[in-house]
Amino acid sequence: MHEHTERLHSTAQAMVAPPRGILAADESPGTMNKRLEKVGVEPTPEARRDYREMLLTTPGLSESASGIILADETFNQELSDGRTVPEACKDAGVLPGIKVDTGAKPLAFSPGETVTEGLDGLRDRFTDYAKRGAAFAKWRAALALDAELPSERAVLVNAHALGRYAALSQEAGIVPIVEPELLMDGDHDLDRCAEATAYVLDVVFMSLVAQGVDLAGIVLKPNMIVAGAKCATQPSVEEAAAATVRVLSEHVPKEVPGIAFLSGGQPPEQATAHLAAMASLSAPWELSFSFGRALVDPALKVWAGDPDRWKDGQAALDVRVRANAAARAS
Ligand code: 13P
Repeated sequence: MHEHTERLHSTAQAMVAPPRGILAADESPGTMNKRLEKVGVEPTPEARRDYREMLLTTPGLSESASGIILADETFNQELSDGRTVPEACKDAGVLPGIKVDTGAKPLAFSPGETVTEGLDGLRDRFTDYAKRGAAFAKWRAALALDAELPSERAVLVNAHALGRYAALSQEAGIVPIVEPELLMDGDHDLDRCAEATAYVLDVVFMSLVAQGVDLAGIVLKPNMIVAGAKCATQPSVEEAAAATVRVLSEHVPKEVPGIAFLSGGQPPEQATAHLAAMASLSAPWELSFSFGRALVDPALKVWAGDPDRWKDGQAALDVRVRANAAARAS
């Protein structure tokens, strides 16, 4: 096998190898600012850096996290001891990942829908990130979900962008995390989420294959199959887990080494319970986690910008990451 291909495959496998998961700490500066303000922290580049430094230097992080996804700003920052963030990831034993999309923007002629941008100049950006040690990348397509949405147009344009991104990422020797996210804030039920997720996965994999993406060198980051947060009929944890594994088994090719779920706004304990329930079901790929909020929210609340609560914040992160690693093994 070509050396480049082998490296992509082994990195993708390392990202999803049991029991560890991937910490998503790649909120854009704008999103991070809102989260900092919510816990009473003045949003500055230094505050964003301090928060990420707290997460990244959590003792023992590499026991339950294989990698960390970073925003471009963080990737370029130095920690308080002068190390670059990619260096600090290496020291911590976690793979550095970079979010390369530039966000979801309104989609023309599709009210309420978005297309994720960031393709212009992406080859050069990948070359630069590869030189600076990025092992993997992330691109998130955000798809609204209700009885009518996502539209075929939104699915097609976002799948096309995911394919272009993933091909450029692999060309640079960087494993792409392919993230088609159906949003869970509506009132749709479990069956509607299952149906839409199946459709989105079919179109996304068609696009990846058409654009030459090597499926053994990606990690898929999908939503779990759940009912919308506003749906009156909420499925049990076991029902959601079974639906998720069933739909993915029918629509995700077996060459994909692993699936690392996003949490999508689920309460941390619920996301962990879903993961544990899925671990007992058989699947052809690794089932892992790449949660953002479900890992970091408790830590952010406990720390709240207070240097004296730095260790408490790290302990709160440690609890959640370990719980999810344990859930994988259950
Ligand atoms: P959540 O787990 O908070 O949904 O975030 C994961 C992520 O990386 C979204 O792009």
